[in-house]
Amino acid sequence: MAKFTVVGGDSSSDLAKRIARKIKSPYIKTEKKVFPDGESKITINQIPKKSIVVVVQSTYPPVDSNLLELLSIVSKVQKFSSKVYAVIPYMGYARQDREFLGGEIITIGVVGKLLKAAGVKKILTVDIHSKLALKELRISSENVSAMEVLVKHFKKMKMKNPVVVSPDLGGKERAVKFSELLKTDFIALKKQRDRKTGKVKILSGKVDVKDRDLILVDDMISTGGSIIKATQFLKKQKCRRVFVACTHALLVNDAAKKIKNAGVSQIISTNTIPGESAKVDVSKVISDALK
Ligand code: R5P
Repeated sequence: MAKFTVVGGDSSSDLAKRIARKIKSPYIKTEKKVFPDGESKITINQIPKKSIVVVVQSTYPPVDSNLLELLSIVSKVQKFSSKVYAVIPYMGYARQDREFLGGEIITIGVVGKLLKAAGVKKILTVDIHSKLALKELRISSENVSAMEVLVKHFKKMKMKNPVVVSPDLGGKERAVKFSELLKTDFIALKKQRDRKTGKVKILSGKVDVKDRDLILVDDMISTGGSIIKATQFLKKQKCRRVFVACTHALLVNDAAKKIKNAGVSQIISTNTIPGESAKVDVSKVISDALK
């Protein structure tokens, strides 16, 4: 009998199928129907056989409804298995990992409590925003990195004397890993975000990137504000082309268009969030961690 059964939620069905194939396990699909009032009804058409049940569901927008779907699936399958793992390729709410301004709620902690109450025994996620977010979940959790598979993709691209750039100091560790794997130079910019308005500013002085291709490496792009400000700054330093490598491309509203207008040649992201830029598959990274 297979060790795992993989259940795919609506937000990650394609990735879930790929994982099931890689770990040679049965795949069970779910169905989602959204009622006119916004409530969704989830149906799981098959009962998982005795095994570890792996529910795969990213919590990108609509964040709350994708999270509720995940919780609903878990609460159903835990009736048939004492071991339910949640693979949450993109972990929403991970940026709410501390009290930045007085009175703010650490919502990632609330997410952890909900997952535990629903029956999750272990969480597996990809490039979570911070180590603190992983800790605040307070369930057995593992974070895997997509940097290696992203670098593999960039190795196939023709670049002129590339430099890896982190748009802020918080993402430095991830970008350093990327530059080491790609064997390139590395710089980190200094970014400041206004905690009330969300607006970002680059505080760095002059950087030497003249006539070189740049790869901005980040865990995620949401509104595109960070990438746009960094690109505008780097273009003023007379760099050549700017590429973006990120794990999670949320690209809310018209972020992709705004990023392109700022001068970015291409955004390459992973299938933790499906979309046009999701050229890199993380199913092997996740499967290796499960095995
Ligand atoms: C921030 O610390 C993150 O690593 C991302 O840089 C940020 O969350 C991206 O958000 P946005 O695209 O809205 O600037």
